[in-house]
Amino acid sequence: MTLGETAQSRLSEIAGCSQAGEGVTRLPFTPEHKAALEHILSWMRAAGLDVHMDNAGTMVGRLEGPKGSKTLLIGSHQDSVPSGGRYDGIMGIVLGCLAIEKLQNECITLPLSVEVLAFADEEGVRFPTALLGPRTCAGTFDASALDLADNDGVTLGCALEDFGGDPTRLDQLARAPSDVLGYLEAHIEQGPVLEGQGAPLGVVTGICGIERNLLRFTGTTGHAGTVPMADRQDALVAASRFIAAVSDKANETNAIRATVGSISVHPNAVNAIPNVVNFPLEVRSISDEARLGFTDQMRKLGDQIARDRNLSFEMEQTYSQPAVTCDQGLSNALSAAVESAGHRLITLPSGATHDASAMSDLCPIAMLFVRCKNGLSHHPDEYANAADMNAAIDAIAGFLVSLTPDELAYGDN
Ligand code: GLV
Ligand code: MN
Ligand code: MN
Repeated sequence: MTLGETAQSRLSEIAGCSQAGEGVTRLPFTPEHKAALEHILSWMRAAGLDVHMDNAGTMVGRLEGPKGSKTLLIGSHQDSVPSGGRYDGIMGIVLGCLAIEKLQNECITLPLSVEVLAFADEEGVRFPTALLGPRTCAGTFDASALDLADNDGVTLGCALEDFGGDPTRLDQLARAPSDVLGYLEAHIEQGPVLEGQGAPLGVVTGICGIERNLLRFTGTTGHAGTVPMADRQDALVAASRFIAAVSDKANETNAIRATVGSISVHPNAVNAIPNVVNFPLEVRSISDEARLGFTDQMRKLGDQIARDRNLSFEMEQTYSQPAVTCDQGLSNALSAAVESAGHRLITLPSGATHDASAMSDLCPIAMLFVRCKNGLSHHPDEYANAADMNAAIDAIAGFLVSLTPDELAYGDN
């Protein structure tokens, strides 16, 4: 059995740690998360790592290097979106463990310490916040997020405490940048580029910036049968025009991904004119300038649509995260490892966000993408094949072995 096949079988097993229904649904600080940690613990132990769960619910496995050596962190997230796939996030954890297991089996001793980090919450679907684990590592976690509640009114702080974490001691998890050599994340590509190029692996150049905005059109309700069409201040008609324009405008440039993913309508009745429509607008780009320009254009368009129809329009930013660039030195080492493993070098930006984005506040980051079947992700049919995962394990192991004293001195530069 190849290590890629071992990865495939481990990912099939841990996919069972899921709420019932199609695909994988594993939210942070739930019984499914608890069950998944048992699997992750066994993967880390098989790689010879010392394991503990930290106070942010991150499972940490450490291989101690020579005294005083810096640590290379390898991580990703255990959680999924609702009805998601078997690879997003969790694959990076299994591949990191297997790359270290491979080196252990080959009796290769590294001149550095290595840790695998299985973060609790990257997707941000249970609580209206995300990236607790990497943010605590980077010392950038804002403790006010502990008061944010899920749909059942359970706060992040309470859920974490019930899970065995300690929300009062998260500040103690911040790593010293001088102790950390860098952070590597392997992840399914979640898009079609590598498949289109016929390449199993890609080295990521940077991670898109994201902003989320809450938008509202407010008009006037009334009887669906009696109010003349020309006199209506229909908030859903205004929102529909706006949403169609979001897609059309974003389509004019390859630099923007813009999505309206949900909508709420009041009074939401078949025979009443909608008077209030709320919806989020998420905008992503590898260029912060392009993203900010697009959002500005959309704000003006919303004002214009509202003015033309005598409605009001509000737009409030609820979240923003700048684009980040992957570290050139670590990415060069990763690229060399991909080529040494016999694969063509493909470089590409990431339109999905990752734990690496938050880790970039702590240390240099690098990311390795693994080819994704049909570009599908956040989807029950998400798939990476065993041979590609085997290639990724070889590349990660080669990357670890290739780190030289020059790279080890990186954090001192
Ligand atoms: C997470 O996968 C995201 O990109 O939103
Ligand atoms: Mn992910
Ligand atoms: Mn995801």
